[in-house]
Amino acid sequence: MRGGRESAMAAAALLLLLIGSCGGAMYKVGDLDAWGIPPSSKPDVYSRWSKSIHFALGDSIWFLYPPSQDSVMQVTATAFATCSAAAPVMKLDDGNSVFNLTTPGRAYYISAAPGHCRKGQRLAVDVPLANGTYLPPTSDDLAALAPMPPADPPAGFESAALGPAGAHPSSSSAAAADAVAAGGGAGSLILLVAGVFFGVLLM
Ligand SMILES: *[C@@H]1O[C@H](CO)[C@@H](O)[C@H](O)[C@H]1NC(C)=O
Ligand SMILES: *[C@@H]1O[C@H](CO)[C@@H](O)[C@H](O)[C@H]1NC(C)=O
Repeated sequence: MRGGRESAMAAAALLLLLIGSCGGAMYKVGDLDAWGIPPSSKPDVYSRWSKSIHFALGDSIWFLYPPSQDSVMQVTATAFATCSAAAPVMKLDDGNSVFNLTTPGRAYYISAAPGHCRKGQRLAVDVPLANGTYLPPTSDDLAALAPMPPADPPAGFESAALGPAGAHPSSSSAAAADAVAAGGGAGSLILLVAGVFFGVLLM
């Protein structure tokens, strides 16, 4: 339940930020899923999430996760492709991390927790120019985007990448999402309504 309430509050806070800030929107990475190893039921959760949003220059993305278990690094396209945590552009590990999308082009984020990126915990977002035009991908971008976690993993990928070691962190975020769906639904709705109300007041 605790996870459910946190997620509901996060959703309300997200709405507040979306409505209240005129400078740029803030998006919670993964929506109701916390930042974690993707559950085996949705291995492509981060690429789907990223594709579902038209980011604008000045927007922010917000990673929510247990700080004892995870972290976020912004990395280069090359480091993203190889899941290398050796030379991050920026690392945040407080469990409540906001990255500002201040540069047009593709921005790459990975988990710095050992093994997590290779299990699909990585995110690429495409940020257009201020006039909305997307930059053509660089050769590094193309190389990074090619091996994104496939929707249909090739034979052998499942057992190699989603072994029992990866089952625990993802099942906890799945449980949190389930808690919202099951028990936290009403509370979430109330908080969302409250969020809209206060958001309107702020405008
Ligand atoms: C993002 O922008 C906000 C508001 O301008 C600023 O307070 C914050 O430090 C920035 N975050 C990062 C990680 O640069
Ligand atoms: C947007 O800006 C870029 C760089 O200033 C320019 O090359 C491009 O043509 C512009 N696109 C539109 C649709 O105005």
